[in-house]
Amino acid sequence: MIIRHSLAFRKDKITLYPSVLMKDDNSLPTESSFSFQRGTYEEFYAKSIEKPKEFWNEHAHILDWHSEWHQVLDQRKAPFYRWFIGGKLNLSYNALDRHLTNYRRNKAAIIWVGENGDEKIVTYHGLLKRVNALAQAMRDSGMQKGDRVIIYLPMIIESVVATLAAARIGVVFSVVFSGFGAQALADRINACKAKMVITADGGRRSGKLIDLKKIVNEALEDCPSVEECIVVNHMNNPVEMVEDRDFWYHEVTAQKHVQVEPEWMDSNDPLFILYTSGTTGKPKGVVHGNGGYGVWAANTLKWAFDPSEDDRWWCAADIGWITGHTYIIFAPLLLGVTSIMYEGAINYPEPDRMWQIVEKYGVNILYTSPTAIRMLMRYGENYPSKHDLSSLRELGTVGEPINPSAWEWYYHVIGHGRCPIIDTYWQTETGGFIISPTANLGIGMLKPGSATLPMPGIFPVVLDENGEELGINEKGYICIKRPWPGMMLTLYNDDERYKSVYFSRFKDVYFNGDYAMKDKDGYFWLLGRSDEVIKVSGHRIGTIEIEDALVASGDVSEAAVIARSDSIKGEAIVSFVVPKIGVRKEGLQEKLKRDVRKAMGPILVPDEVHVIESLPKTRSGKIMRRLLKAVYLDQMPGDISTLENEASVTEIRESIERFRKEIKK
Ligand code: WTA
Repeated sequence: MIIRHSLAFRKDKITLYPSVLMKDDNSLPTESSFSFQRGTYEEFYAKSIEKPKEFWNEHAHILDWHSEWHQVLDQRKAPFYRWFIGGKLNLSYNALDRHLTNYRRNKAAIIWVGENGDEKIVTYHGLLKRVNALAQAMRDSGMQKGDRVIIYLPMIIESVVATLAAARIGVVFSVVFSGFGAQALADRINACKAKMVITADGGRRSGKLIDLKKIVNEALEDCPSVEECIVVNHMNNPVEMVEDRDFWYHEVTAQKHVQVEPEWMDSNDPLFILYTSGTTGKPKGVVHGNGGYGVWAANTLKWAFDPSEDDRWWCAADIGWITGHTYIIFAPLLLGVTSIMYEGAINYPEPDRMWQIVEKYGVNILYTSPTAIRMLMRYGENYPSKHDLSSLRELGTVGEPINPSAWEWYYHVIGHGRCPIIDTYWQTETGGFIISPTANLGIGMLKPGSATLPMPGIFPVVLDENGEELGINEKGYICIKRPWPGMMLTLYNDDERYKSVYFSRFKDVYFNGDYAMKDKDGYFWLLGRSDEVIKVSGHRIGTIEIEDALVASGDVSEAAVIARSDSIKGEAIVSFVVPKIGVRKEGLQEKLKRDVRKAMGPILVPDEVHVIESLPKTRSGKIMRRLLKAVYLDQMPGDISTLENEASVTEIRESIERFRKEIKK
């Protein structure tokens, strides 16, 4: 990944700041504080670290347990940490049934807003009915505890129903982002040998129909484990149904009045698998359990955002990513909060769509990404100023470091200087927030661009190459010293890879792949990825996945991908490809983009494709990505004594120059 470093002086130290954290005028991250009332954070945090057992014995009661745990944490098989040993619970029961016995029965659980303006409001009672109906249908088709179901749905209520129905009967669900293509979908289905797929006849995005069923049909040609496919009629789109395999959702859920007893799950039974990108080709199947994950989801939302009974919470993420899992579905529903869900693009049909939803539905807490903020910021202040945003009380962000200019725009233009910015830092693997301001415990000082302080129970350290702890304002690898309930259980079917990816780089700490530094106030500044994982519009992508997809097109023998910074998307994808002998260069760039889009989906499509004769390699044949990055950035390439083919550098430079000239035209 490329970070443009700028030198800045602080006291006697030279600190490197990535440009992502520089203000537009190139000044340093501001030290001026935005102050809110400080509460009990320090005391609360100290207890979580000093007396973890006592702390979690208390806070795990945020959920209802069918039978209580006899041990808070089992570390004997570290790094496979197990929480709430012996405890049994069901997260669909916790998200639904338990609210029905009190005043939440008629409360809106989900307010759904369609891209075309449709609206559906489902109460807790109504959601339970739907979940029961689907859980029964899944059981009727033979799905049992431990089986896997793939959920490949757009942002519709049925995606919430499907995850909770699976959770209810102990079926492990794996949501695949509906922007992924057929190959990416098939890979994920095969990786977990799913027996069932739940999809729809289509989804909407920027006014266009995405034909999900067509993609599923294509993927299922190579997925022998799938026995049944349930299809939601969302768009009245005519689709091809395969006899004895495909069934309509509304038909299989037609028995409306069933009551399905929840399966009482062991705290450490798996709840879901979510495939996410790493530094090697195969996506990693991050496995989360029931107890620890549920306790973490509910507590972190409460601590960070402190939603109240009457609040309307809008997490504007997609269900296909961990943010949607934890903070559209589980955390708000476990707490009995009203969760808003929006189907489409946030700038469609007009750039004020987001502000219009905030006004119309009286959103109290808005949680979105820096990419979205940067994009909406570009349209100017006229759009938000057309709307009454006074219902907003807090504003959140997630997914990548937020640059101070975007932070301040969000704070002043959207929040009118009243709403704290809750910059939540976390990962698929961590289950929920790990560094974030905490509205529930008092926020105190905010610094634009810093995710501030660790969540209770999280013990982060910043280490150098050798695992030594670094000092104030020194950039290094952020690692977590102790287990916490929300951490993944393992990587699906790959315990070895779990150990080697996260626990072998440094001894006894969780290594998460990010750069960070800690300032004099103990605030953490996240400084981007230290590995070959990039963040494009907040989507986490391994550069190797794009390289594999380019090579899989059949036209190129080799591909190398790097990222460049992008003012809206955060990072953009730059690829270098070597065509196979005999392949025509004309039209190749467009063809490659089309092929990648079809197989993997639009998010992996390179922004730049440079067709070249050879890639820079070491004498032992390894591609020198470091050199590619340096050439791209016009920087000194460092030691290139092992470079085998110097001519490639000239060729690459020329290709980049040609591209830039074209863009200017
Ligand atoms: C990045 C998304 C800075 C980070 C929840 C992490 C962030 C990766 C922030 C995980 C933030 C997420 N500030 N960087 N507030 N939040 N990241 O698994 O690089 O899709 O490792 O989870 O996103 O991405 P993932």
